Parts: sequence; structure tokens; C-alpha cells
Amino acid sequence: MPVTISVLSQKGGTGKTTTVRTLTDAFRRAGLSVLAVDLDPQGNLSDYLGVDPDATPTIADVLTGRAPAREAVHDGVIPADLTLAEAELALGGRIGRELTLQRALRDLAGSDVVLIDCPPSLGLLTVNALVASDHALLSAEAQYFALQGVEQALEVIKLARDTLNQRLSVLGILLNIADMRTRHSREALDSLRAHYPQQLLGTPIRSSIAYAESAQRAVSILDLRPDLAADYLAVAEELLGRLGLAQAQRRIARLARELAPPPERAPAGG
Ligand SMILES: Nc1ncnc2c1ncn2[C@@H]1O[C@H](COP(=O)(O)OP(=O)(O)OP(=O)(O)O)[C@@H](O)[C@H]1O
Ligand SMILES: [Mg+2]
Repeated sequence: MPVTISVLSQKGGTGKTTTVRTLTDAFRRAGLSVLAVDLDPQGNLSDYLGVDPDATPTIADVLTGRAPAREAVHDGVIPADLTLAEAELALGGRIGRELTLQRALRDLAGSDVVLIDCPPSLGLLTVNALVASDHALLSAEAQYFALQGVEQALEVIKLARDTLNQRLSVLGILLNIADMRTRHSREALDSLRAHYPQQLLGTPIRSSIAYAESAQRAVSILDLRPDLAADYLAVAEELLGRLGLAQAQRRIARLARELAPPPERAPAGG
């Protein structure tokens, strides 16, 4: 059975899709087989991962029962497009609507990790992702109100756990798009650290314009800017540790040293 992780946030634009995209790449480089599931009608993850925009079937076909999940996997991605918005509406009227994704993914074999990119709301699609997941990873933009966004997402996670999916746990909280020169980023970090010291991941993802370029060109930040990629590699390493995937964790640590070696120390006495 794969370990399934949903990446979510209450707000839009917190870096969820970039996180799923980059972790997919990092985990694959650590030797894991990763299925990336785009659960956002915007289809950003599908674009970031370079899926043909006309590829069918998509996650919408899976959720509406028109195609089995295994047929919707295109190069390790189940893509989404705008038809997912219709599928969500159609789903709304059905009994067991929150369980649809879990049921659809159940017979998918062969992946070590499934990463689900949620849309920017805590509605039916995100609830479906949480019901299908073992873990939730929260993305919080390092801005004012980061804490409130995390609190709201945690409430929905608790609700999903209490009513629909007892095995769901919070894998971590990621401080994203952070510029520690600014007061609001430092305040966001301080408040999350004070309230969620266990869940908060040790490395914030630095803000850089390079991520927009990475998305636009569908080139992983690990290839585009290995220096910046050190952030995501540190996060990947910490997550794999929390998941108990020690071998992959060691591979990530090695990859991080190769890609972004620590600056050489000045020779003694120099
Ligand atoms: N660390 C970063 N630094 C600067 N910009 C970033 C960073 N991570 C992502 N971005 C940019 O911020 C924007 C939003 O990122 P992304 O699409 O990953 O967020 P999202 O949470 O998935 O958004 P949505 O809620 O709309 O799905 C994109 O333009 C992306 O390139
Ligand atoms: Mg997104």
C-alpha cells in the first residue's frame, strides 16, 4: 500500500502546487515511485509536470466513474482540468460523496507514495483528498494571517478524522514563500513555532522569483536552481524521516550534498 499525502491550505497561492511538484521530483530522485494527483480544476500541477493538456482520462473521469484510476495515470500523474469543476458539482448530490476518491484510488498498486495537490478551498474536493490520505501536509504562506489559515485547515482535518478517516494524521506544517528579511515572514514563523512546535517543519521555503520561472518552463527547481532547491530537499528529508522511510531519507541527504554542497571553509590560518 502506498503512503498517501494531501497538500492543502485554506488560502490560495500558498505554494501547494509547487510543493507537490518539487516533492514529487525529490522523492523520485530518492528512488521512490511517486504518483502525483492533481485535484484542482486549475490544473496547475498537470502543467507544472508537463502533462499534455489534452491527455484523457483525467481525475474528473475517475471521480465520476467514467474511467478507472489506473487508466488516468499519465507518466506518473493523474491530471486535472476545468472539467473537474463540473465533476465536483455532480459529486455533490451523491451519497458517499466524500469517499469517492478513496474508493477510486484503492485498487491502484505500484506506487510508494501518492501526493495529492488540493484546490485552494476546504470544500468537497479537499475533503475527498483527506479521506483518501494517511497524512496531511499544510502549506502556509509566510504572511499575516498564516496562523489563522493553519487553524482553519486543522479544523477540517480534525473533522475528516473524527467522521470519515481515523488514520489521517498531520505530517507537517510548511512555512512557504518566506522572506525572512520582512517582519511579516518572521512573525508568521514565530507564531507557527509557538503554536505548533511539533508539526512545523524545520526549514522554511525561501521566496524567489525563480519558482515562477520553474513553473512557466515546467523545469524542476532542483534543476533550475540547485542552491534554492536545498530548502525543498531539507523538507523532503525531514518528511521522509517522519514517514520512517530511512533509506530514501539517506538518499535525499546525499543528493542535497551533491546538488548544493555547503560552502567550502576557508583554509586554516588563511
Ligand atoms: N518559494 C516561492 N517563492 C516565490 N514564489 C513562489 C514560491 N513558491 C511558489 N511560488 C509562486 O507563487 C504562485 C503560487 O504558487 P503555487 O501555484 O504553488 O500555489 P498554490 O497554493 O498551489 O496556489 P493555488 O491555491 O492557486 O492552487 C506561483 O506563481 C508560484 O510560481
Ligand atoms: Mg495550486
